[in-house]
Amino acid sequence: MKYGYFDSERREYVIDKPDTPAPWANYLGSPAYGAIISNNAGGYSFVKSGAAGRLIRYRFNEQDRPGRYIYLRDDESGDYWSASWQPVGKPLNQYKSICRHGTGYTQLEADYKDIHSQALYYVPQDADYEVWKVKVTNSGSKARKISCFGFVEFTCESFYEQDQVNLQYTQFITRTYFKEKFILQTINENCLNAVNESRVDTRFFALAGAKIATYCGDRAAFLGKYRDYGNPVSVENGKLDGTLNYNLNPCGALHTTLDLAPNETKEFIFLLGQKREAQAKELISRYEDTSLPEKEIEKLKTYWHSRLANLKVNTPDDNFNNMINTWNAYQCFITFVWSRAASLTYCGQRNGYGYRDTVQDIQGIIHLDPDMALEKIKFMVSAQVNHGGALPLVKYNHNPGHEDKPEDESYRKNTGHPSYRADDALWLFPTVWKYVAETGNTALLDEVIPYADKGKDTLFNHLKKAIDFSLNNLGIHGLPAGLHADWNDCLRLGAKGVSVFVALQLYYAFEIMIRFAKFKKDSATEKEMTKQKDRFGKIIEERCWKDDRFVRGITEDDVTVGKKGDPEANIWLNPQSWAVISGYADEARGKAILDLVHKELNTKYGARIMSPSYRKHAFDGALALLFNPSTKENGGIFLQTQGWIILAEALLGRGNRAVEYYLESCPSAQNEIADTRLMEPYAYSQFTESVDSPFEGRSHVHWLTGTASTVMVGSVEGILGLRPDIEGLRLSPAIPSSWKSFTMEKSFRGKKLNIKVNNPDGHESGCKKLTVNGMAVEGNYIPASILKPENEIVLDM
Ligand code: GLC
Repeated sequence: MKYGYFDSERREYVIDKPDTPAPWANYLGSPAYGAIISNNAGGYSFVKSGAAGRLIRYRFNEQDRPGRYIYLRDDESGDYWSASWQPVGKPLNQYKSICRHGTGYTQLEADYKDIHSQALYYVPQDADYEVWKVKVTNSGSKARKISCFGFVEFTCESFYEQDQVNLQYTQFITRTYFKEKFILQTINENCLNAVNESRVDTRFFALAGAKIATYCGDRAAFLGKYRDYGNPVSVENGKLDGTLNYNLNPCGALHTTLDLAPNETKEFIFLLGQKREAQAKELISRYEDTSLPEKEIEKLKTYWHSRLANLKVNTPDDNFNNMINTWNAYQCFITFVWSRAASLTYCGQRNGYGYRDTVQDIQGIIHLDPDMALEKIKFMVSAQVNHGGALPLVKYNHNPGHEDKPEDESYRKNTGHPSYRADDALWLFPTVWKYVAETGNTALLDEVIPYADKGKDTLFNHLKKAIDFSLNNLGIHGLPAGLHADWNDCLRLGAKGVSVFVALQLYYAFEIMIRFAKFKKDSATEKEMTKQKDRFGKIIEERCWKDDRFVRGITEDDVTVGKKGDPEANIWLNPQSWAVISGYADEARGKAILDLVHKELNTKYGARIMSPSYRKHAFDGALALLFNPSTKENGGIFLQTQGWIILAEALLGRGNRAVEYYLESCPSAQNEIADTRLMEPYAYSQFTESVDSPFEGRSHVHWLTGTASTVMVGSVEGILGLRPDIEGLRLSPAIPSSWKSFTMEKSFRGKKLNIKVNNPDGHESGCKKLTVNGMAVEGNYIPASILKPENEIVLDM
């Protein structure tokens, strides 16, 4: 069953069946004022922090309720419904609904008994409030009297957990008032002029462009006894009774009445935010001009679409096009900005950026907005500790040069991170490389950036220190210790246990340092890194390769994890894909291990993280055992890893395989099996349940996942083969043999590239001929120096 489709022209996902298998969400605004909205108008908003600045109440694990509800009522018949299908939920043979999730906005249209409504939700660019623009049209042939009610349930206080559980306290610090155009909610208002004004929060819910008929500021009065959002007594009665909240639960509810002649449309605007009374008034008066939203939406679209336009592909596969051009790209920005802060799953309590998560997230947007990437790269580099390790969690108010670190009790207490992780700082190598290669901005290497705790250094030396950190934290056999964990949060290999994934990351780090050192003509570093790389290569060969595969790690008791013949977890995906990505495995071995992966780990929804799942034979540090078999790190399809297997196959030139993995795990390719997948068909989720589960194919933890960036990199650098380096751009597509041609429009260092790839003979990779502006160039490489402002590039495979 499918519930919607992609409107690629407008960069929208359109849901035309509102009874989706789960709430399908979109993001509005930014963490400065963030909002999550489902296709049924559920979700919440917050100022600055999902946990500490929560404005709209939301009940986790209760579908998507409550939300931003707009109710409509026929004042003659008394029949009522909502502008989103839920919460009233009229029968779907009478109620038609279209939800358009776009870039930074969501529009809900409904038709019910000859009334057409349109609710457009957005947060204006750089604003700290939200707008619900409503249009109601009489599409029938007789005059109608319609009531419209806007409703929002405020939290009693900004910290969401207190709001949810500390009822004996939070209910008694808040009140609501009616202020002519809006409901004003105050929190701690008795502190105004008294103890501490900074504790006072005031929120407003307003109506602009129409007259308020009745109002209510008390949830119990709005809903009525033993009722729900689906049948509020006040909507049923056609009026709000004017109750204001004093010691119960606050809400904002405003009612307006509309007389609509046939074909007549009326429009008005609900506004919601956290502002002082005077500011709220000022804002509301601006929105009396109901044409303002149109301009603001245009601005939002321009902002988003211009960035997304920096890479536009047209391949024979629409799923691939939709994801790369819009949805995967958009999700990369969302994860970049929001990290793992707030979703319908994440509550926002992680008060900062996870180091590895964010450094990886950056990779997903480098080709679309390198300047934005640069700022975050510098920020993350400044969260590296002077000895080269990285802070596992970087606080939102990170203060470089003055931070405490995992060695300090205070850091451990504040962040809950007991020590360093083995992989964090090593993610800087692929990220910095991708940025420098995309932009040619080699000056960054010499830029001086502070350390988190003390001192400062050039970025190049920061990278050297990241390597030092690994070399200073070796475990048994001279391999990098697994420390608290490596990329896999569920692997505790012990203080002296070692991680093969980290060993391969380190091998790759040496390679990147060699490239940078060569560029800088720093032969001492180049020599040293080459020596280390070779030395490490030998250890990897000796200790990490067993029989026909790379093992996953060695515990401190010298037990090898992930070897052939183990009853469980005998083959792991990441060490095989990273053996290729890191450049360690040569072509023959690379192909052999990836064939083994395909045989042992591939399923119809992607490759599993390992197999068989742990049940009885987990070692002590294998925390994955806690999860049900085929779930998350315990043998599930951990979607983040799909990007790496796609990339690895593509690096070996095996386009058929790369795209096979791509499509197995691609959300849009599962549009027709939405009831199996559950999650949004336009956004990646964290993992998919696999073969041991009775619900194989079901996905979980939507939107905020590293999958967005790894799959983007696997697609752009891997499948499309856009592989820049310091001097130019290599074109190495690895595509299915069935793709006979495709085109790409790419911005590159301020220039425009129009690339056409011809593949009449059905190859999977390779280059017969490459021309740039009509001139043949050598190999598949385009030196940046020959590029004009606009370039026609043709590659014959
Ligand atoms: C989650 C975490 C990420 C970790 C991964 C694997 O996605 O956010 O940091 O690498 O799980 O355990």
